[in-house]
Amino acid sequence: MSVKITETVLRDAHQSLLATRMRTRDMLEVVEQLDKIGYFSLEMWGGATFDSCIRYLNEDPWQRLRDIKKRMKNTYAQMLLRGQNLVGYRHYSDDVVEKFVTKSYENGIDVFRIFDAVNDIRNMELSIKVAKKLGAHVQGTVCYTLSPVHTVEKYVELATQLEELECNSLCIKDMAGLLSPDEATNIIIAMKKQISIPISLHCHCTSGMAPMSYMAACYAGVDILDTALSPLSCGTSQPATETVIAALKGTPYDTGLDLELFKEVVAYFKNLKERYRGVLDPISEQIDTNVLIYQIPGGMLSNLVSQLKEQNALDKYEAVLDEMPRVREELGYPPLVTPTSQIVGTQAVLNVLMGERYKVVPKEVKDYVRGLYGRSPAPLRPEIIGKIIGDEEPINCRPADLLKPEYNKRKKEAEDMGIAKSEEDILTYILYPAIAPKFLKGEVEEESLNVVTHETAVQNEYTIPTHFKVEVDEDVYEVKVEPLDSGVSISKLCPKKSSAQSVEGAVKSSMQGMVLSIKVKVEDVVAEGDTIVVVEAMKMENSIHAPHSGIVKEIFVSEGDTVSPGDIILSIQ
Ligand code: CO
Repeated sequence: MSVKITETVLRDAHQSLLATRMRTRDMLEVVEQLDKIGYFSLEMWGGATFDSCIRYLNEDPWQRLRDIKKRMKNTYAQMLLRGQNLVGYRHYSDDVVEKFVTKSYENGIDVFRIFDAVNDIRNMELSIKVAKKLGAHVQGTVCYTLSPVHTVEKYVELATQLEELECNSLCIKDMAGLLSPDEATNIIIAMKKQISIPISLHCHCTSGMAPMSYMAACYAGVDILDTALSPLSCGTSQPATETVIAALKGTPYDTGLDLELFKEVVAYFKNLKERYRGVLDPISEQIDTNVLIYQIPGGMLSNLVSQLKEQNALDKYEAVLDEMPRVREELGYPPLVTPTSQIVGTQAVLNVLMGERYKVVPKEVKDYVRGLYGRSPAPLRPEIIGKIIGDEEPINCRPADLLKPEYNKRKKEAEDMGIAKSEEDILTYILYPAIAPKFLKGEVEEESLNVVTHETAVQNEYTIPTHFKVEVDEDVYEVKVEPLDSGVSISKLCPKKSSAQSVEGAVKSSMQGMVLSIKVKVEDVVAEGDTIVVVEAMKMENSIHAPHSGIVKEIFVSEGDTVSPGDIILSIQ
């Protein structure tokens, strides 16, 4: 019973280790060689790659898909799809889901791995049906996590439901590296008794257990394993492809793949990793058994560090880590994967930073409690619901049933803006309305590879002036400044002028983020508590409320501006 391999180097591996920054041109050089190896599939699209393409790389994700697919003859092109969330961060209406899945298929996707963050089958049903109808291979997915309500029986029940929906295979997705060898054995053996479709296992090495769990999974009868070529393996990424192949050689699980064929591609990715060194977070390469305590996916830990750095609150790291399991328990133990990882993580950060739990609650957290992301694995306690959404009644139906068709409306918007040349462009706009217009107009610049992450880009020499002319008694001196050590943020040395303390009635941003919308105009009368500005921070919409009543005197920011904690947004007098 030979085990098949799904290679993740073009998607999950660089999403986990290189902040999802791998360029299409760097993929195209090696695709044909990867295609010759004999993998079952090559995961190369979906997840965060779509977002990263248009936000940081000035690349069209659809073009990437077509270009890679063109060079693949033997291997399935695989994508990760977040059910009704597609590759975005909210639920989309059914007509958008149908269009997106269809266009993904037409542009080249063979295997759709479809999951839902809270394992609510109702959120996966439509994309499964559409992909099936098109003739694609559909891999229904269960997200693995640890909690009192996530039992072997529960996973088997979910797997059975996915088989009933005619999925071609089933994936156990262990995004945080929590799956122990023993649990892998128990779950796979129990599933094999109930379902007959092949089972694929997707683990991250975050806690270091994954290679052992893979071996145990083989003994239990797993059919497909997800691995990443060694240069981009381990840490928060997958176990190394060559290692797994070597370990299984000569056993009943032998993959049949030839290690000789890997020499060139491994050398290629070793070299690539050096070029991308600037975006490699050393933390993500380490084994961290804390993940077993905090149950946080690896990518999220490094995200958390940069979020806290931005907010100048790195000293709160431990407090946030302690807060995370509490929030997760209160929210009914969602598995931590996009977007629930952001939902739990951001709320935990806010609870600690604001000094009062649930004082500030982002829209996404409220929507989650309203039931708009689906049914939480465990029911929420009434006092938590009350604290977050007051007297509102959470919904009980399939969340997308409440969404009106929106494709045609958005299509018209995109056409009116003159940014849509194709249906693919329209979908890009629907998924990322805040950044897509800029991208589609060709105004996004490819990020420099020296930039550590977008979040720390402000410290980059390209964005902060380092040469100044200083005038002293009419003599002009030219000075050049540089940070004393890498721990000093240049942004601290050059405070923004809006941070000046002299504005009367100033309303300041409490977080680092992008101004998504401004809800008031100069001269507007506002009451205390009114939403005045919405800031996108940590991929969440956070409302900033008027701290006092009065008249809006001056607005210092525009939509699309980046604000830092302490920056003055507007003044109310
Ligand atoms: Co993953």
